[in-house]
Amino acid sequence: MSDWFKDAIIYEAHVRAFFDSNNDGIGDFPGLTSKLDYLQALGINALWLLPFYPSPLRDDGYDIADYEGVHPSYGTIQDFERFMDEAHRRGIRVITELVINHTSDQHPWFQAARRAPAGSPEREFYVWSETKQKYQGVRIIFTDSETSNWSWDDAAGAYYWHRFFHHQPDLNFDNPNVLDAVLKTMNVWVDRGVDGLRLDAVPYLIEREGTICENLEETHAILRKIRRAMDERYNDRMLIAEANQWPADVRPYFGDGDECHMAFHFPLMPRIFMALRQEDRHPITEILRQTPEIPENSQWGLFLRNHDELTLEMVTDEERDYMYQAYAADPRMRINVGIRRRLAPLVENSRRQIELLHSLLFSFPGTPVIYYGDEIGMGDNIYLGDRNGVRTPMQWTSDRNAGFSRTDPAQLYAPPIMDPVYGYQAINVEAQERSPFSLLNWMKRLIALRKQLKVFGRGTLEFVPSANRKILTYVRAFEGETVLCVANLSRTVQPVELDLSRFKGMTPVEMLGLTEFPRIGEVPYFLTLPGYNFYWFRLQAQPSSITGQRLSDAGTSSDDIRASLPAFFMGVAWDTLLDGNVRTLIERESLVPFLQRQRWFGGKARPIRAAHFLDWGPVRRGSDPLFATIVEVDYQDGGRERYFLPLGAAKGAHVDATMASAPQLALARLTGARKGVVIDATVDERYGAALLESFDKLESIPLKRGVLRPRRTDPYEQLRGDGPLAMRRIGAEQSNSSLAFGDRLIVKLFRRIEDGPNPDVEIGEHLTAHTAFRRSPQVAAWLEYESPGAIIDLLGPEPLLDLAAMLTPQAIREVSGAYIDSAQMLGRRTAELHIALASDTRTQAFAPEPFARDDYARLLADAIGQARRASELLGGRAATLPQDVASSSRSAVEQAEQALHARHMAHAAKPRISSVSIRGRRSGRDGQGRRS
Ligand code: NOJ
Ligand code: CA
Repeated sequence: MSDWFKDAIIYEAHVRAFFDSNNDGIGDFPGLTSKLDYLQALGINALWLLPFYPSPLRDDGYDIADYEGVHPSYGTIQDFERFMDEAHRRGIRVITELVINHTSDQHPWFQAARRAPAGSPEREFYVWSETKQKYQGVRIIFTDSETSNWSWDDAAGAYYWHRFFHHQPDLNFDNPNVLDAVLKTMNVWVDRGVDGLRLDAVPYLIEREGTICENLEETHAILRKIRRAMDERYNDRMLIAEANQWPADVRPYFGDGDECHMAFHFPLMPRIFMALRQEDRHPITEILRQTPEIPENSQWGLFLRNHDELTLEMVTDEERDYMYQAYAADPRMRINVGIRRRLAPLVENSRRQIELLHSLLFSFPGTPVIYYGDEIGMGDNIYLGDRNGVRTPMQWTSDRNAGFSRTDPAQLYAPPIMDPVYGYQAINVEAQERSPFSLLNWMKRLIALRKQLKVFGRGTLEFVPSANRKILTYVRAFEGETVLCVANLSRTVQPVELDLSRFKGMTPVEMLGLTEFPRIGEVPYFLTLPGYNFYWFRLQAQPSSITGQRLSDAGTSSDDIRASLPAFFMGVAWDTLLDGNVRTLIERESLVPFLQRQRWFGGKARPIRAAHFLDWGPVRRGSDPLFATIVEVDYQDGGRERYFLPLGAAKGAHVDATMASAPQLALARLTGARKGVVIDATVDERYGAALLESFDKLESIPLKRGVLRPRRTDPYEQLRGDGPLAMRRIGAEQSNSSLAFGDRLIVKLFRRIEDGPNPDVEIGEHLTAHTAFRRSPQVAAWLEYESPGAIIDLLGPEPLLDLAAMLTPQAIREVSGAYIDSAQMLGRRTAELHIALASDTRTQAFAPEPFARDDYARLLADAIGQARRASELLGGRAATLPQDVASSSRSAVEQAEQALHARHMAHAAKPRISSVSIRGRRSGRDGQGRRS
């Protein structure tokens, strides 16, 4: 896609600072490559690299000595090429730097120029003058280190022009040979696969007497030539302008869609910080109001922080004073015309402000850029020179050197941040990956959310006025998708009344939590927002039900389903059904509606983004093949689930019968050389037979990526018996599907699969193999999916249970009727099960451990909470129930709640129960651990 950059989320990183693979203290390409999985998991889809070319590194690489090479500290061209392949393999595009305004004074072009005679082609590569009087009045950019834009060169006997450091002579774009040389460089990198080029310092290419030598028309003419040359070669690459200018002066860098694809929005950035500190939306609304329209094929680049200082060139003098005072009280925090600090320290490490700022960055019109380390809230070091304080090593772990390098700490290119607040012991990727509520995990969620909707990268922007200026409200809209964003810029909770009448009848659904808000009506919409908080609402005409389960509305009748089933062309052989593009077609056209028709599919109420086959393979080949597949479902809320789906491609009478009685089981029709259907194969007897065979023979079923392995317990042979067993599908579909083999075995297909052992299998197998308890079904065998691990089960028959005779007080018998028997039985069996589970002290995961007073208290507190919720629910439904039912059930629940309370108090005073638990704390497997 040629405008991929509109939906991109760019991550800016420095090869030197990311990861050191050879332990010489300097980050390198192999190191960066090894961290691509991290970036992929973060969710970014474009990576912008700071200059990595051979350079004396006096401007951290923006002083280039060889345009086509790789700095030896960072690796080789081969390392770069491998990095490119690996990034692309993960769907990450790569943006590099094309620094053409200037070179290093060590570049061979400059060395040749200063020695060549005046007027010679070599000399003409740079801008020379006999006096310093030319181009008077052009501003100096690096005010802290340079006093003039001219420097004297002894060898040349002349002054050379430089807009930045004196060791960075400006190239002479009045010389056509310079443009040719630059284009050659550009081609080298795009031919190496680079997807985007950031044009550094692009306003300064051409100088003219009597002007400020910035943004000149001749400079734009050069840019058009660069764009044309690039488009002639490729149609999917892009150019970003680094033009630190006012909006009206940046606008021409897009040209008529024939200069740069993207330009950074420099004036917006400081104003976001200003609005935050002033607790007033005005600076933001004002600059966005003054932001001109840009051509259809272009995009703004948005950022909060980058590798440079927070520049204050594009603010007024008063605003600059304010910013310095608010954000850089210590003069060490200032450099040139700006503030050299990272994001987290700028907001005093306020998590809420960091989140709020990102919400703006991710919802304003444009493509967001995240500066490396800001996703974990890294700090800075204002005692390092130049802007190096914001370029310290990435903090991976709390180990030596932040896990960035294993070298001697003294050899690092820069010390990692070590203070107690931002130091790597406190702030690092490893720790944050483990903590579900870390900034890193929050960022992942936000990135996933933003990627769901094109409206953020492509939509229009409109502010919604309100009297409270601390609240910023705006609507983004694109192709029928409407998102309402509300942000509270103040530290305190704020109310706001919004005129949303033009959205009357729509329902705002908060995007992070999928919470439905009251429908928009006639009266002003009233909201309150906690300090530094934000809401993103999707405005939906008919919200999908969030609280209840919803069966797919369409295609439930047999005829509807039949009519809606897409047909795909296949040849004579069907066992390659899933190996080619038919699989992709099924994923695109019929998998989601199919899933929504299934009783066992748990995600009916959640909007689905996509579903695809994660793994597949034939279970039986032949003319009517059977397959085992694993389907992965991606939800719009960023969640993901996997399901086991047995499929068959078949034709003939039994398929017709199924289509008549259970059409919801069909996934697609096949046509072409032969006609048939793709259908859930649990209806196919041969599927069960194939499974049984693989258990009998202990034969694995290889899939494309992983493998299904049969596992058996000792009693398998005895439970299974000899000879064939007839298969039938059992009763109503629930969350799992069951098949019976004769009266001996039941196969329970766990549809939804998760990593790690399945608790049903684990506990069942444990009871079968390690205890004498026979009142639960014995486990004969199970199938294990190996690769991203999951388990599918085959359970054995359940012995008949005898009802025990019980003595129950007459009074209770009268009110409870026959239920008491079942209740008693359930209690007894549960107790027996628990005793059996706790009887094995050898298996570590099942070994008993004390069930403490606190555990019991927690159990009671849970029960009380449940009673309370039930009584609230009853309260809410009172109007819909007959009056006597409502009041009696309510009072019953209240009594229960009181009784539990009394029990709770009594227990706190004097514990009466002594118990043990298994699969609790000690087994330490959160989520899988079951208490008994
Ligand atoms: C812009 C870059 O972002 C900055 O880091 C560099 O110092 C100047 N260009 C000069 O090369
Ligand atoms: Ca290294």
